[in-house]
Amino acid sequence: MGSKMEPIEISKGVYNVGVTDWNIRDFHGYSTDLGTTYNAFLIVDEKIALVDTVREKFAGELLENISLVVDPKSIDYVISNHTEMDHSGGLARVMHRIGEDKPVYCSKMGSKNLPKHFSAKWNYQPVATGDELSLGNRTLTFLETRMIHWPDSMFTYLNENQILFSSDGFGQHYAGPEKFDDQIDASAVMYHAKKYFANILLLYSTHIQKLLDKVLSLGLEFKMICPDHGIIWRKDPGKIVDAYVRWCRQEPDKKAVVIYDTMWHSTEQMAHAIVSGISREGVPAKPLHLRKTHRSEIMTDVFDAKAVVVGSPTLNNQLYPSLADFLTYMKGLKPLNKIGAAFGSYGWSGEAVKMINKELETMNFEIIDPGLRVQYVPDKEALESCYELGRKIGKAVAG
Ligand code: FEO
Repeated sequence: MGSKMEPIEISKGVYNVGVTDWNIRDFHGYSTDLGTTYNAFLIVDEKIALVDTVREKFAGELLENISLVVDPKSIDYVISNHTEMDHSGGLARVMHRIGEDKPVYCSKMGSKNLPKHFSAKWNYQPVATGDELSLGNRTLTFLETRMIHWPDSMFTYLNENQILFSSDGFGQHYAGPEKFDDQIDASAVMYHAKKYFANILLLYSTHIQKLLDKVLSLGLEFKMICPDHGIIWRKDPGKIVDAYVRWCRQEPDKKAVVIYDTMWHSTEQMAHAIVSGISREGVPAKPLHLRKTHRSEIMTDVFDAKAVVVGSPTLNNQLYPSLADFLTYMKGLKPLNKIGAAFGSYGWSGEAVKMINKELETMNFEIIDPGLRVQYVPDKEALESCYELGRKIGKAVAG
């Protein structure tokens, strides 16, 4: 509770009536150290439309915000751009308040998926790309955007104001006093947008690239882009669109990450020696301890790194559990265009390096070395080998 924010008139007759979730720190496994927002938009014209709702527990705050602008019962249309519960969770309370017979506009997939979340038989109105809904003086156009972020996802465009309501697209898990891109340092907001892309949308990049091409080919102007999470883009909406076009290509930077866990600091010593070797070649590199840095932060670094080096001790003939967790997570997000290598210390069996290589091969990483294993504690010679492995990786990244 306590997350209500005053409705903000973002354009004449268009309000952000969403809420801020200041205290969320784990968004289904994604670290949200600063919290997030669930933006929802009220468009007041001859007809009144609500675009998206909020997480269920904040539905009361959403309705209070709406009440500060209009009587909720006067809402004529609900638009559901996305079925996921952080945007549809409040729908049941909203519909109960505004009238269960009010039409709910959503994509065709939305009309199939929403009833799998809610038992109420609402008046679903499936729409397709190009379909329009008149509000009187202004008109909404719908654009299906499957897999940004679910099969039901769509964007809604307010023609006359050139405002795009983009649901998860172009969003960031960020909560702060700033509400618009002209109120916050550009690099700060872009970091959160990149983290969002790397952890939520990366696996759909090829698909999103085609979708963006299609949307951009419609020649729509975007004066403002309003995602359902975080900052609204009004100063330079082109900046985030250009970033998405670039991110979808997955062209990595000349940098390396060395991801590891360690039991008695042996694998850690190896990681640090590898980082030194990579750095020696002029390639930025850093060690990332899996129990010190959250996996979603690590994935943000993986996203634009050319080399991903992975180290694990062998524990009970297996990978260390945190490595198994991370490799599963990374595999699901399907990063492209990476080179990889494995390393790790062991006591008597030493399967971890082989297991990492197998996983990296499954992800189509280019394995540039069979990998380094060290029994128990690395001596000077072993650390020299790690350093040389680092230099080999550094040279490969530097090209
Ligand atoms: Fe913000 Fe895919 O939900």
